[in-house]
Amino acid sequence: MFITIEGVEGSGKSSSTNDVVNRLRKEGYDIITTREPGGTPIAEKIRDIILDVNNTNLDPRAEALLYAASRRQHLIEKVWPALKQGKIVICDRFIDSSLAYQGGARNLGIENITNINMFATENTWPDLTLLFDIDPELGLDRIRKNQGREVNRLDLEKIEFHKKVRETFLNLAKKYHDRYVIIDASKSQKEVEEEVYNIIKERLNGIK
Ligand code: TYD
Repeated sequence: MFITIEGVEGSGKSSSTNDVVNRLRKEGYDIITTREPGGTPIAEKIRDIILDVNNTNLDPRAEALLYAASRRQHLIEKVWPALKQGKIVICDRFIDSSLAYQGGARNLGIENITNINMFATENTWPDLTLLFDIDPELGLDRIRKNQGREVNRLDLEKIEFHKKVRETFLNLAKKYHDRYVIIDASKSQKEVEEEVYNIIKERLNGIK
């Protein structure tokens, strides 16, 4: 089972998933968690180039290709082997981030981004995608208050960019309604965690 978690900056997707994963592990589920871009040494190096705040003139298509390259390396070294061993893989961001950020907000087009990703991933799609949906103004506000989190090159984009990201995610959720579940990330962390737990549990029971 390949689960991805998606959302705009500051949606709280990572922190809301951590406790749920621990809870499921205690129940005996074999889960690995990972993230994109990155997740393996080579992919992390690509991540450093993409997110470096000094790379202000990184071309949008080059950016999209770097995300796809990092994704492939991560699949080969980490995700596919774990799935083959029957583990549950929970990945913080995957193809839908490329579709929303590069395809939607950067205007490169959903079809172009789908195509380069189908080449990179050999048509790998998640079984379940949790979209942590929140108004980006609220999300970015959370980041500003959260002193521990580093600011990256994409955080520095204007609010219109992040609104476009959210809008594209919501369109993707409609298009891929079989694998998408939308979570209202403006709720309290406790409420969100309960929801995430129930959704994943239900899917896991469904495939037993
Ligand atoms: P990260 O610090 O991991 O952000 P977050 O905690 O919000 O997940 O940085 C990843 C950034 O890269 C984030 O701004 C989203 C962006 N991104 C893309 O634009 N395209 C992609 O394909 C992926 C995976 C991420």
